[in-house]
Amino acid sequence: MLTLGIETSCDETSVAVVEEGRLIRANVVSSQIELHAPYGGVVPEIASRQHVRVISQVTARALRDAGIGMEHLSAVAATQGPGLAGALLVGLNFGHGLALALDVPFIPVNHVEGHLHSIWLTSQSLFPPEPEMPLMALVVSGGHTQLVLMRDHGDYQVVGRTLDDAAGEAFDKVARLLGLSYPGGPAIQAAAAEAQSPVNVPRAWLPDSFDFSFSGVKTAVLHLLYEIAEGKSPHQIRGKALPRVDLAARLRRQQIADLAAGFQESVVDVLVTKTSAAAARYDAKSVAVVGGVAANQALRQRMTAVIHTPLHISPPEFSTDNAAMIAAASFFVPRPAENDDVDVLPSLALTTT
Ligand code: KG4
Ligand code: ZN
Repeated sequence: MLTLGIETSCDETSVAVVEEGRLIRANVVSSQIELHAPYGGVVPEIASRQHVRVISQVTARALRDAGIGMEHLSAVAATQGPGLAGALLVGLNFGHGLALALDVPFIPVNHVEGHLHSIWLTSQSLFPPEPEMPLMALVVSGGHTQLVLMRDHGDYQVVGRTLDDAAGEAFDKVARLLGLSYPGGPAIQAAAAEAQSPVNVPRAWLPDSFDFSFSGVKTAVLHLLYEIAEGKSPHQIRGKALPRVDLAARLRRQQIADLAAGFQESVVDVLVTKTSAAAARYDAKSVAVVGGVAANQALRQRMTAVIHTPLHISPPEFSTDNAAMIAAASFFVPRPAENDDVDVLPSLALTTT
C-alpha cells in the first residue's frame, strides 16, 4: 500500500510517499525558514501563501522521487491540526481534492500523532522490529511539549504537558534574547558547542508532576543576561522595565556561548529526568523522543546515557516537521474522512480512537 502524506501545519511544505506505513519512498520538505527569519518567528499569512505557491511542485517531486504515478496511490493523508489554520487549509484541501480525483480514501491526521509515528519510519526494505508498546513518548517541538503514554496505535494518555511555553518555543525565545538566529534550537546548539563554563540556569522541576514549565527559565536567562551586561542584578533597578534589546550585543561571544549552554542544560536536564521517571512510573517497554527538539544533540546524548529501556529517537530529518510521519500515522490509525465533510482543527488534541 502506497500512501501520499501531506504536511502544511506550520512553516514546512512537505509531501511524502510511504509504503506500508514504514518504508520511505520519498520525503520532500520545502522549508520556509528564510522567509520567516527576518521576523524572528513564523508569520501565518506568509506561511499559507508560500504553501499555496509550492505544494504542486513539492507533490510532483515526491512522486518523481518515489518513481510512481498518482494512479499507484492507495490513500492520501494530510495534517488536519493542530497548527495554523490558514496553513493547514492548504494541505488539507489539496490532499482532499487529490483523493477525490483519484477515488481513494482521504485520511485527516493529527500532527502530534504524526510525530509519534516518526519512529516507525525506515529507509530499509527489510523492516527493523517495531517499537514495543506501551511506549513513553516525549513529544518536544516548537508547538508542543507532552509526555504521552502510547498503549497502542490510536490509544494515548497524555501524562504530562507544558503549562506555558513549549520547549522549542523556549529555545526560539532565548535565542532571540541572546541575539542568535531563527530558528533558535539549532542556533543555541551551535553556540553551546563553544561553551567553556556553562552558566548555572535554574531548573523548573514542578515536583510530583510530569508537567513542564519553561517560561521561568526564559526569564532566568534574561536576568542572567542583564547581570552579565550591567554587572548588577535586575532587582537593583526596581520599578524599571528590563531593557530587552541590545543586552546581548554587550556580551562577548564566549559569554553568549556559556549562557546558551547553561539554558540548554537546564531544559535537557528536566526533559530527560521527567521522561525517565514517567517511563518507570507507567512500566513503559520503550521510550521515544520525537519532534523538532529531538534533533538536539545534547538531548539525544543525555537520553541515550540515562534511559535503559529500548530508546527510539527519530533521526533529525524526521524530528522536524515532515510528511512521511503523517503518512505513517494514517496507515496505523486509518480514520478516513466520512461523507467528505472535513475541516481543519487548529487546536486538535490527541485523542484515543
Ligand atoms: O517539530 P517542529 O519542526 O515544528 C513544530 O511542530 O513545532 O519543531 C520546530 C522546533 C523549533 O522550535 C526549533 O527551534 C526546534 O524545533 N529545534 C531544535 C533543534 N532543531 C529544531 N531545538 C533544539 N535543538 C535543535 N537542534
Ligand atoms: Zn511538529
